[in-house]
Amino acid sequence: MDRGRNHLTHSLPVRIMHWIGATAVICMILSGWQIYNASPLLPFTFPRWMTLGGWLGGGIAWHLSAMWVLFADGLAYLAYGIFSGHFRRDILPPRPKIILRDLDDALQFRLGHQLGSYNGVQRLLYMGVIIVICLAVVTGLSIWKPVQLGWLTGLFGGYPVARTIHLTMMVLIVGFLIIHLALVILFPRTLVSMLAPVRSELNNAPRGSVR
Ligand code: HEM
Repeated sequence: MDRGRNHLTHSLPVRIMHWIGATAVICMILSGWQIYNASPLLPFTFPRWMTLGGWLGGGIAWHLSAMWVLFADGLAYLAYGIFSGHFRRDILPPRPKIILRDLDDALQFRLGHQLGSYNGVQRLLYMGVIIVICLAVVTGLSIWKPVQLGWLTGLFGGYPVARTIHLTMMVLIVGFLIIHLALVILFPRTLVSMLAPVRSELNNAPRGSVR
């Protein structure tokens, strides 16, 4: 199958699932900060304007509602990514040598971007955030139902450890989001391609040639 210029940068399912997932993740972060404020683990709380839900109960309601959206969207995205070959072709990170080369280019602001192919840094970030989100959901379930899902909480070493891992995953997702949005600002045409059908800029070379 030709995966070159005639191919869309992002398929319709990826575009739909990206925006549903992004909205759910942002709601979960902001409502999570509301829940954290009720019993802070660290010596600070988040300003009210950065939180969602208005109070602890409202924060929990938002967090759990967005969690089911993220859960369903995430399962659909994982199934699509695995069975359509999207993960293997577009997201699987290349060899460390290529990642280091792309990272070096990125830090010197000379890493180019072609619509239709992710560079080594993007692949590492996307694969990383997918794994981090999975861990955030699973640790979240384990601290939501520590009695019913006691085996899961136990797997993470108990409630306090599971909560710390959950908060660490949140920090990693926020870190990803800052870099992700900076890259979108640097390459604004990628935003158009995630919103509308835009043709890939690749010549007829197979996608994934970054490897
Ligand atoms: C709300 C602001 C966001 C914007 C404007 C945005 C924008 C984009 C754009 C433009 C791309 C395509 C990049 C390219 O073609 O080079 C992309 C891909 C991606 N974004 Fe976002 N994004 C946002 C939020 C998020 C969030 C919250 C997450 C998850 C934590 C996320 C995860 C991803 C992933 C995993 C991909 C790769 C999708 C794939 O090809 O399967 N994004 N995003």
